Parts: sequence; structure tokens; C-alpha cells
Amino acid sequence: MIIEPKTRGFICLTAHPTGCEQNVINQIKYVKSKGAINGAKKVLVVGASTGFGLASRISSAFGSDAATIGVFFDKPASPGRPASPGYYNTAAFEKHAHAAGLYAKSINGDAFSNEIKEQVINLIKEDLGQVDLVIYSLASPVRTHPETGKRYKSVLKPIGEVFSNKTVDFHTGNVSEISINPAEGDDIENTVTVMGGEDWKMWMDALKEADVLADGVTTVAYSYIGPEVTKPVYRNGTIGAAKDHLEATAFTITDDLKPIGGNAYVSVNKALVTQASSAIPVIPLYISLLYKTMKAKGIHEGCIEQIQRLYSERLFGGDLALDAKGRIRIDDWEMRDDVQAEISKLWEEATTENLSEIGDLQGYSDDFYNLFGFKVDGVDYDIDVDEMVKIPSEA
Ligand code: NAI
Repeated sequence: MIIEPKTRGFICLTAHPTGCEQNVINQIKYVKSKGAINGAKKVLVVGASTGFGLASRISSAFGSDAATIGVFFDKPASPGRPASPGYYNTAAFEKHAHAAGLYAKSINGDAFSNEIKEQVINLIKEDLGQVDLVIYSLASPVRTHPETGKRYKSVLKPIGEVFSNKTVDFHTGNVSEISINPAEGDDIENTVTVMGGEDWKMWMDALKEADVLADGVTTVAYSYIGPEVTKPVYRNGTIGAAKDHLEATAFTITDDLKPIGGNAYVSVNKALVTQASSAIPVIPLYISLLYKTMKAKGIHEGCIEQIQRLYSERLFGGDLALDAKGRIRIDDWEMRDDVQAEISKLWEEATTENLSEIGDLQGYSDDFYNLFGFKVDGVDYDIDVDEMVKIPSEA
């Protein structure tokens, strides 16, 4: 079929298999071009199909020749209905990993559930014995708690007071003022339950209990801090409360892993266009100014550049360069004083009329379409494609 983008607000209902494959190929090429990373050899990535998790899986496989197991929640295609991008990405990843002689298997299901944890443990036991790196890169708006069956929804709200600021509709370039009401009722608790550290700890407890963690295992989860301008809705908001919890959980997990000499870290990553971040008000305007500024300074990075640098310079590069709160900071270039000063100035100036010049709206929009395999250089979208692509290890 001919597949075209069908967007509804910040989501796209279709995805293109060839475009998704090309994205994966580009990421593989990038990692290979940077040379070998002396990293982990048996790697589990939870949230492995898009964004930072996919970049982690690719960096492990093609940087360190690692065997990888990827867990994610994606929709396969049905006749006439394309799969979700993470499904096509994983199909492409496995195809290229297998062609390179690398072990790669995937489990598609709810990572929050006990069943999927059990499936993963059985797969590790059967195929790898143990893993030496666990990347936790889930981003989800909902979580069904495995013990109670209760379904929790996360919200993106400020805490305490209404937050008003500028935002942009990146499809139209329209800059407008938005007001977001503060969290109420169980909003904070629910968001912490979905995006905090409880499930990460449950994964590590289950893996440790099953003796599938190698001595000296490392686990890493991803967090975000960001600038003053997004603080009320991000770091000081409900999602920030969840990130505080996630970051605190790293210390608990490190204590739990002491008997096997393991460590848990949080890496604070850069703001990037992913399905998760497109949903957060105000962030798209910030990202479009950030991209413009960082590209002008020659320091722009995407997910793959971020994770390649995280692995080669920090995790496996001998210098974690932890901050005062014990976090790895791969958002260091985003948070540079000169970058933030420039964005603060641009933020004040930004209007519908000038944003396409002072911000990188085009870059934002292109990245958004790229997430779904559209507008990818070198892909001919007029060619009929088979939407029924399968993930090799699932077929
Ligand atoms: P993403 O939306 O691209 O990826 C999320 C992954 O989680 C996908 O593989 C998806 O299939 C999987 N997933 C979601 N629900 C699942 C479930 N119930 N079971 C199994 N898999 C599930 O997100 P992104 O942006 O890569 O986020 C990953 C982490 O990085 C998050 O913790 C996020 O907060 C963090 N981060 C994101 C930044 C950004 O700007 N995008 C910046 C800094 C950190």
C-alpha cells in the first residue's frame, strides 16, 4: 500500500516501514562511524522500540557487539493498517542485527505486568544466562498495577498554581498563550505511580531474584530537568515529581544490588522530539528554540548522538562525571549557560510571525514526521510497500 502520514494533534496514526528502517540504518551507521565501545555484552532494554531506548539498543548492539533483548508495547500491522513505528523500528533493528551476526530478540507486551517480566526472565535464562546492562526507558501515559490491577493515568500539570506561558502548535506554527490548571486529587500520586521508579525497582528485584543479573551489573533509567521556562509544567510539575521518585529509586536499587556489586544510575538526557515529549505543552516551543540555538553552535544531538556519547564517554568511558545529586548529565550541552541565555532571549521574542526564523520549527516538524518514518531522506513514498512487515523473532 501507499502509506501517508495521518496526524491528529501530537500523534500520527500511520507509520512507514521503509522510513522507519532507514532511520534505524542511519542510527546504526552513526554508531559504527564512532568506533567500538568497550561496553556491556548482554543487554536488556525496557522501552526499546523508539526514542532513547531504541538508541540504547542500537548503541549496545552496533557499538559493543552486544546481544540484546528489547521489551516494548507496539501494535503490529493488520491488512491496510500500518503497524506503530516502534514495531517497524524493531523489525528493522532485528533484521540488521541478525545480518551482522548479533543475537536480538524482542518481547512485545506490557512491561508493567508480571507476565512480561516472567517472559523476559525465561528468555534470558534460556538464551543469555545473565545480562550485564539493563536500560529502563519506558514512557507511558498509563500503568496497570500488577498487584492490584488498578489502572493509573499520569498527567502533565503544574503543582500548586495555574501555569500560563507560550506554546506552539508545531503543525501550524501558531504561537499562543496557554494556561494549565494545577494538579488536583490524586494527580501527583498517579503520575508518580506511572512514571516514577516503582516499576524499575520491580524489574530489578525480579531479575535479581531469578539470578539473571551478572556480577557488576549496571542499570540506567532516563530523566529530564530542563530550563526555568518549562519548570512549572515539567520539573516542578507532576512529571517532575515522578522523576524525583525515579532518581531516588536509583539509590535504593544500588543498595539492593550491593551483594552482586551492581549499580543503578539515572542519566539526565537532552530534550528531544519523541512521541513522549510532543505531548507536553510548552515543550515544543522550547525545543524549537533549543534546536535552533544548538544547531547554530554546532552542538545539536539526536537520541543516537546522546546515547552514543553517554556510553562512550560516561558509562563505559571511565568518567561518569556525576552531579551533586549522583546523576549522569548528558544534558550538559543543553544546559550550558550560553545556550540557555540565548533561549531565554528568544523566548521573550517568539511570536507566530517570527518563529519560523528565530526557532527551528522546520526541524521540529521534520523530527516529528521522522518518528513515524515519514519525510526521511532517500525514501520514495510513492512506492507501494508491504505494511505487514514482521519482527523476525516474533514471526
Ligand atoms: P518514547 O515514547 O520514544 O519511547 C517509549 C518506549 O516505551 C517505547 O519503546 C514504547 O513502546 C515503550 N512503552 C511504553 N509503554 C509501555 C508498556 N506499558 N510496556 C512496554 N513498553 C512500553 O519515549 P522517550 O522520549 O524515548 O522516553 C524514554 C525515557 O527518556 C523516559 O523516561 C523519558 O522521560 C526520558 N527522557 C525523554 C526526553 C525527551 O525529550 N524525549 C528527555 C530526557 C529524558
